[in-house]
Amino acid sequence: MTIETGAGKNTSGLRTLTLEIARVTEAAAIAASRWMGKGDKWSADNAATQVMRSVLARMDVRGTVVIGEGEMDEAPMLYIGEQVGTGLGEAVDIAVDPLEGTNILAKGSSDSITILAMAPRGALLHAPDMYMDKIAVGPKAKGKVHLDASVKENVTAVARAVGKPVEDVVVVLLDRPRHDDIVEQIRSIGARVKLITDGDVSPSLSTCEEDSGIDMVLGRGGAPEGVITAVAMKCMGGDFQGRLVPQNDEEIARCASMGLTQPLKTLLLDDIVQSDDAIFSATGVTGGELLRGVRFLAHDVAVTHSVVGRALNGTVRHVTGRHHLSRKPYS
Ligand code: FBP
Repeated sequence: MTIETGAGKNTSGLRTLTLEIARVTEAAAIAASRWMGKGDKWSADNAATQVMRSVLARMDVRGTVVIGEGEMDEAPMLYIGEQVGTGLGEAVDIAVDPLEGTNILAKGSSDSITILAMAPRGALLHAPDMYMDKIAVGPKAKGKVHLDASVKENVTAVARAVGKPVEDVVVVLLDRPRHDDIVEQIRSIGARVKLITDGDVSPSLSTCEEDSGIDMVLGRGGAPEGVITAVAMKCMGGDFQGRLVPQNDEEIARCASMGLTQPLKTLLLDDIVQSDDAIFSATGVTGGELLRGVRFLAHDVAVTHSVVGRALNGTVRHVTGRHHLSRKPYS
């Protein structure tokens, strides 16, 4: 693959695929949003996965799913190792979460999204489906935090980097008993906490938008979501670090089988995403801080809101799509 970076020539690599992958996450979001509030997270996830796969099938890439819906024997579609695309074009790693926040969507709450990330073949961490300790911050705090530092050090560093008092800093965590200690530490230094029920990807991306009101995401969540988040953070100029948390011998063996010889190592952004030519697209399903949700209008029109980006040049676009559903092959 050639990546030309000279004036006016930055046209190869994955650049031309950024709008293509937005089409994928838009289609999945429309499909998932039909299940909003219906209490059936499985059907919602399945609808998003099927549509995502069928749109991906028409894309000119030689794609390998490295983060997907599970192993080949446990997921019928978009399983790890599945080959997707037409078989023409770039050889790429693909990380997908057809519906991030399945419980959120099932309840009709805020901040479920569909997300897809892509990088040249071999560039993405092959993370097993286990927990990962994570820290995510926006561009101003990039390089100022470290997963191995204390909560106090990280919160203080973020406050300094974003130019506001510690009392104004907002840290998002999943509302889980495992985070009680971290929450206590954040509160004890006077910073503010936002506890979410599910979905740590969307708030991580929000740290990259200055007026989102979210300065940092901290705590333990899914490792596959961590890899997808890392790609998006690299595109949006933020920072992300993760540390896998294998919880038994089986999970340690699983890390080894995926080539992770030091499973407990703190992984920096460039360890997780080993190329600058990475791209991502996320589309809101139910509206949140970062993205508006899918809205169905009269005459079979649906409106979507996506954020797409490319790490190489740091361009981030907010894309509003107005879809005439009767003219779509997948609706
Ligand atoms: P879904 O797979 O149901 O979409 O859930 C996603 C998620 O909330 C992630 O955002 C998060 O990293 C992880 O699950 C948290 O896992 P747990 O619910 O086990 O704490």
